[in-house]
Amino acid sequence: MITSYTAAPDIEVLTSNFPIPGYGLVPINAFVIKGPEPILVETGAAIERAEFMDGLRRVIDPADLRWIWLSHTDFDHIGSLHQLLEENPRLKVITTFLGVGIMGLTAPLPLDRVHFVNPGETITINNRTLTAVRPPTFDNPCTTAFHDSKSGAFFSADSFGALLQTVPQSAADLSEGDLRDGQVLWATIDAPWLLKVDKNTFAGELDAIRRMAPTMIFSNHLPPAPGRLMERLLGSLAAAPGAHPFVGPNQAAFEEMLKKMTAVAV
Ligand SMILES: [Fe+2]
Ligand SMILES: [Fe+2]
Repeated sequence: MITSYTAAPDIEVLTSNFPIPGYGLVPINAFVIKGPEPILVETGAAIERAEFMDGLRRVIDPADLRWIWLSHTDFDHIGSLHQLLEENPRLKVITTFLGVGIMGLTAPLPLDRVHFVNPGETITINNRTLTAVRPPTFDNPCTTAFHDSKSGAFFSADSFGALLQTVPQSAADLSEGDLRDGQVLWATIDAPWLLKVDKNTFAGELDAIRRMAPTMIFSNHLPPAPGRLMERLLGSLAAAPGAHPFVGPNQAAFEEMLKKMTAVAV
C-alpha cells in the first residue's frame, strides 16, 4: 500500500513497506519535489505499479511532472518509469550513460528523453541546483544521489537505508538501537562489498557527507531523517564494515520458513 505525506516544504514522500520474512520491513520511497517544473525522484517498485500510480495521482497530476531523477535502475525504483514516460511526453529522465545501458537490457529508455548528470555535475531546475553525488554505499554501479541547494537536503539513493520492525514517518521516531541495527543490517545486505573496503578510505567517503551537512536525508529505504541525526546515520555506516556478513537462510532454514508460512495460511 502506498501512503504519502509532506516531509519538507515542497517535498512529498510516497512510500510503501516491503516485508522480508524473518528480518523486517524495507521502506521503499519515492519523492515529489514541487515547483514550476516538478521532479519525481524514483518511480516505485515494479510489483506495485498500479498502486504507485494511484498514490502519485493523489499527490500530483503526473501530466504536470517535468523530470524524473532515477538514482539507479533496480526493480524497486523503475516500476512506473515507462508508464509515466508514455503518459507524459514532456517528461525527461535524469540518469547516466550506465543507467541507459542497463535499462537497454530490459526496457530501453527513449534516447531523446534522457539527460545525463554524472557525479560532481549539476542541473538547475526550479531555482534549485541539484548536484549529483556518488553516495557512500550503493548496490548498482549507475547509482547517483544528489544534494538539493534549495532545501539543503541530500537524496541519498539506497544509502542510509534500514530494515525496520515498524516504519514511522520520521527516522527521528526510531530508537537509537533500532535505527543503528536496521541500518547496519541493510548495509551488509545492500553493499556486501563494504566488508572488503579500507576503513580509512570509507571514513573519507563519510566525511564528505558530513561536510555537506544536509538539512534532511531522504534515503530510498529509510523514513526521512532530519540533519541532526547525521552523526548517528554516519556512525551506523562506519560500523557496517566490521559487522557480520549477511548470509541468507540455507535450504533447510528456507523449508522451515515455508512450513511456518503454510501453517499460518492454513
Ligand atoms: Fe538498489
Ligand atoms: Fe533500492
